[in-house]
Amino acid sequence: GAGSSRRLRHVSSVAAPPSKVSRLNAVVLGDALASKEDDLVIPNPDFSAQAHVHSPGKYLEMYERSIEDPAGFWSDIASQFYWKQKWGSPVYSENLDVRKGRIDIEWFKGGITNICYNCLDANIAAGNGDKIAIYWEGNELGVDATLTYNQLLHNVCQLANYLKDIGVRKGDAVVIYLPMLMELPIAMLACARIGAVHSVVFAGFSSESLSQRIVDCKPKVVLTCNAVKRGPKVIHLKDIVDAALADSAKNGTVVDVCLTYANESALEKESTKWVEGRDIWWQDVLSKYPTSCDVEWVDAEDPLFLLYTSGSTGKPKGVLHTTGGYMVYTATTFKYAFDYKPSDVYWCTADCGWITGHSYVTYGPMLNGATVVVFEGAPNYPDSGRCWDIVDKYKVSIFYTAPTLVRSLMREGDELVTRYSRKSLRILGSVGEPINPSAWRWFFNVVGDSRCPISDTWWQTETGGFLITPLPGAWPQKPGSATFPFFGVQPVIVDEKGAELEGECSGYLCVKGSWPGAFRTLYGDHERYETTYFSAFPGYYFSGDGCRRDKDGYHWLTGRVDDVINVSGHRIGTAEVESALVSHPQCAEAAVVGVEHEVKGQGIYAFVTLVEGVPYSDDLRKSLIMTVRKQIGAFAAPDRIHWAPGLPKTRSGKIMRRILRKIASRQLDELGDTSTLAEPGVVDQLIALADS
Ligand code: WT7
Repeated sequence: GAGSSRRLRHVSSVAAPPSKVSRLNAVVLGDALASKEDDLVIPNPDFSAQAHVHSPGKYLEMYERSIEDPAGFWSDIASQFYWKQKWGSPVYSENLDVRKGRIDIEWFKGGITNICYNCLDANIAAGNGDKIAIYWEGNELGVDATLTYNQLLHNVCQLANYLKDIGVRKGDAVVIYLPMLMELPIAMLACARIGAVHSVVFAGFSSESLSQRIVDCKPKVVLTCNAVKRGPKVIHLKDIVDAALADSAKNGTVVDVCLTYANESALEKESTKWVEGRDIWWQDVLSKYPTSCDVEWVDAEDPLFLLYTSGSTGKPKGVLHTTGGYMVYTATTFKYAFDYKPSDVYWCTADCGWITGHSYVTYGPMLNGATVVVFEGAPNYPDSGRCWDIVDKYKVSIFYTAPTLVRSLMREGDELVTRYSRKSLRILGSVGEPINPSAWRWFFNVVGDSRCPISDTWWQTETGGFLITPLPGAWPQKPGSATFPFFGVQPVIVDEKGAELEGECSGYLCVKGSWPGAFRTLYGDHERYETTYFSAFPGYYFSGDGCRRDKDGYHWLTGRVDDVINVSGHRIGTAEVESALVSHPQCAEAAVVGVEHEVKGQGIYAFVTLVEGVPYSDDLRKSLIMTVRKQIGAFAAPDRIHWAPGLPKTRSGKIMRRILRKIASRQLDELGDTSTLAEPGVVDQLIALADS
């Protein structure tokens, strides 16, 4: 009850965890009148006693060392990995200040290693060859497979040998367009083994998006499969790749080889369209290659992968991560944020097509020798109990997912959860967008039986790994807060002028100093890297997110402050959707904003001005939405098209999105100052058409 509410003081003055409350569920302290930041969920002492970081005091001790002596802190951790040759001196070097010249980050430069070796060979050498690396669960009930670390290494080596054989060399790009088959992490690891730079494109992207990425990074080979079943639907991936490759060729990028995994549960080989000379069946060739393959030793600063993500212009950004720092950072964040122990079975529901699947399906867990569940299907197929069925089947102990899934399952009722045991669960995780306190509580109370701490991990494609995250068992939690910075991370909250705010505050979330997992550039466009991330607030990395720090030092992420929308944890640039819309022959102009959405977090709301004389119709609405699906992917389809005879613009022609956001969320009495509009009448026109 409210009477026992305990307040933490500012982070640096907390010495010991609150001691009186005995269960984590605990008593979600605070009452309806208290503000949400006063609600504390106290860790169970038995949990804390076994945790890597068992108290705020322990956290602070480690955190302080990581800030005072980053070189020493990270060297000690890095020494636990295999290095062919140790890194030189200094351990890291950085310039994060645009006023002082080129932005530059290096960690462990001169160190020679290989991340695939550390994921596989090193774990096998440590005696874990027969441990399950992957439990693969197919779309259909009863369809599954496993790979031990030994078997995984064999598969990776065969593919690595094949790639070398067709001429893929260190530094060459390889595009991977695969669903969640075991071949996806296998492909990533095979590239890493030979020093090739993988660029995984989420298999929900359209052929046009795929082609755009292929033209940008010019791979020698594309790895894909013929088709996949997701829920009741069959998706013909190979057709999408065919279209993308034809498109890329027209734009000057010819890909020589399309290695295609025959996923015959979705589509027989015979029914797959084929381009002789270019297309190769994966299973036909791979078995001919040896199951061992020498490692290509690379510098810590050699590139590991590219991953395209959305920004505030129409052109996706190729986020580039290098090898050594990323390796050390993903492994360490995984271990601490999930309190990982070798007996855990870990399941992250993210697709390897996003950064979460890179850092926390493949690299982070495998560097720790973890057993990972890889799920091909959809979480609501055959019904919305599927996740808990999988949790019970594999005795999953760490379950990491996105708030959007939590909210959608919450709507289906508790019984679909409680009919399963879930007693193997010990830790829950959340990522992708802020988790609202009511979803947090449902996740905690119903899914986790009030027993499992929730790690609400804040990070980005650019950051490589977690920057702000709870450490289970260390801190009392506050539902909806990502809590405190990870070791080595110095978040700062600044005002519009870039002044650092202290204590209780709210503003733009930046980071001071580098951390090993930080991205090093945008592929082929270092200037855009500098202007997008380091110029808004000189001296800092700017995340694009808003954040509030409460009186106890807890961080509360408040969402993007730039032109990026977060739909079901997927990042979509408003400019990308707008440029897809205006490519429609009947669309003259479009402006896209995010609106609150009960399940997806944010929905896509598009204001569309039609070409003179074209009448509004439902068919046209559908065709506009189709255009976006076709150009970007189904996940970017607008939820709402709002006909706009005109858009609110300033006299200099700038669209006033602030007003559009208010109209989209129907906060019509909060339109604010409209006196700078070139044509004030457009606002009334828009309001009149709001529900048509
Ligand atoms: C953006 C990054 C990083 C993994 C998945 C998304 C939002 C991510 C959280 C969280 C509040 C979050 C931010 C961020 N975000 N995690 N725990 N709490 N917001 O990666 O596509 O690079 O998107 O996702 O807005 O900037 P991404």
